[in-house]
Amino acid sequence: MEKNIAVIKGDGIGPEIVAEAMKVLDKVAEKFGHKFNYEQLLMGGCSIDANGVPLTDETIARCKASDAVLMGSIGGNTTTSPWYKLPANLRPEAGLLGLRKALGLFANLRPCVLYKQLSEACPLKKEIADKGFDMLIMRELTGGLYFGERKTEEVDGVMTAIDTLRYDENEIRRIAKKAFDVAMQRRKKVTSVDKANVLDSSRLWRKVVEEVAKEYPEVTLEHMLVDNSAMQLVKDPAQFDVMVTENMFGDILSDEASMITGSIGMLASASMNETSFGLYEPSGGSAPDIAGQNKANPIATILSAAMMLRYSFKMDKEADAVENAVSGVLEAGYRTGDIMSEGMKLLSCSEMGDKIAEFV
Ligand code: IPM
Ligand code: MG
Repeated sequence: MEKNIAVIKGDGIGPEIVAEAMKVLDKVAEKFGHKFNYEQLLMGGCSIDANGVPLTDETIARCKASDAVLMGSIGGNTTTSPWYKLPANLRPEAGLLGLRKALGLFANLRPCVLYKQLSEACPLKKEIADKGFDMLIMRELTGGLYFGERKTEEVDGVMTAIDTLRYDENEIRRIAKKAFDVAMQRRKKVTSVDKANVLDSSRLWRKVVEEVAKEYPEVTLEHMLVDNSAMQLVKDPAQFDVMVTENMFGDILSDEASMITGSIGMLASASMNETSFGLYEPSGGSAPDIAGQNKANPIATILSAAMMLRYSFKMDKEADAVENAVSGVLEAGYRTGDIMSEGMKLLSCSEMGDKIAEFV
């Protein structure tokens, strides 16, 4: 098959980690007889430097014309980078949010798996880590606090800021459906996370999720409050299969979940619309402190590319090959700095990419 991939390397470690994912994709193409064409596009800080804005219409149009988007990371150091002197709507993150919205990517899938080879890097107690876990966070990505009305103004001489958490039933229904669909292909359990003891948006969320659940009698549904979920993630992560939640809760809980897999450098993600189109990016940030040093962990980006093969290109055996190569490399004792432990072999970012490509 021939596929056109829009590539947004972005800022910080983005270019390094994306280069390794492309290396692995090229190996997949060679082995399985496909052709991947890449088109490099700018978004985030690099787009501000080149075009004065974090996202151009051209980048949106080229992404729409592609079969899938592969992304690295965007943004810089929020206290020192000149990008953060700009108004909020012109900063790097505004580009990413704008692209998610423009492409209608409402469903963000973040699989969090503790590889048994990495249980040493897991900060949880040994008896919890030894049980392992394999969950998928389904984060709503184009609504809620991220996209609600916001403003900062002086009210009666007092500076006041407002952000709005808004959801309509259709937005909740479509993300809930995605969660149940995915659960059907997994262990058939959905945990819906909300704050229904306080928020109206959460009470509507709960009601709509329950309606959707009726269409999936085989799936067990449970509701969990977000604060309790944060606690349960470190207490007993093995209880979770699919966790579905609104945008901001998902942002926070997915960082927490990533940390218990050993490193945020392991966490892949797919952002999808109603079709099989998606944007694939590691869940971690641009890590400006280690950018350009060939130290970053490219595994999350490589696993994101595997998700692209599986979900957008329907190339299951190719995706398996990449995922197996990653476990094989870990099994063989190769590590980047973030997941390093005693007796293991330390690799640079590009060496890790080479190794995984070799194992494919
Ligand atoms: C993520 C990131 C983004 C988000 C930032 C960079 C805007 O933290 O993808 O989780 O908050 O969605
Ligand atoms: Mg985040």
